[in-house]
Amino acid sequence: DKNKPLKGKNILVTAGGTQERIDPVRFIGNDSSGKMGFAIAIEAQKLGANVTLVSGVSKLPDPVGITTIRVKTAVELSEAITRRFDEQNILIMAAAVSDYRVQNVADQKIKKDEDTLTLTLEKNPDILKQLGKIKQDQYLVGFAAETQNGLINAQEKLEKKNLNLLVLNDVSNAAIGFNSNDNEVTLLRPQMENIFIKQTSKKQIARELLNVVISDLKK
Ligand code: C5P
Repeated sequence: DKNKPLKGKNILVTAGGTQERIDPVRFIGNDSSGKMGFAIAIEAQKLGANVTLVSGVSKLPDPVGITTIRVKTAVELSEAITRRFDEQNILIMAAAVSDYRVQNVADQKIKKDEDTLTLTLEKNPDILKQLGKIKQDQYLVGFAAETQNGLINAQEKLEKKNLNLLVLNDVSNAAIGFNSNDNEVTLLRPQMENIFIKQTSKKQIARELLNVVISDLKK
């Protein structure tokens, strides 16, 4: 079917931001809205894929007809993906994962008794990097939100995480990136020319990104 080039493909998309607990009423989070990942999940479904969406924190509703799993922390996100990784053909990791979590989460609300408060953070697992190590023939897509030296950092991530494609977006520009409806990205792949997609809707970015994935899978 020409209109359903992803028919028969299992694709897992992550979206949104993770939240790490500090105490029962506080957390560490980030500005991710989930818009980019949700757009990818929706477009992939239109192209015929069997889509699983694993979403961190996002205000967006579950897309109709897409299995949507909601998680909060990086560890929960990791578990939700790992459990389903074997059966996937494509994994698109658009979630903004917290790099650190609080080492000792307080069971009770922390009181403001002291003038300073120190939270010790420990590193979360780099989910994508771990999957890059164990992947069979899954096509792995990562995102990199950078505020400086974007291309150099992105190239390094592509290689270190053993990805098939890395989507670079410059989040220092408020017109694109976190919470905006538009994005502007550069697609990096091993041994291939970079593809620059100038500012457009996240829906259109999702389409063009999936077209690149589809053409790579045909090779
Ligand atoms: O290294 P950096 O966080 O910039 O890499 C971004 C990519 O790695 C994103 O695709 C993000 O979803 C993923 N990531 C991850 N686990 C982490 C941090 C980031 O899978 N702990």
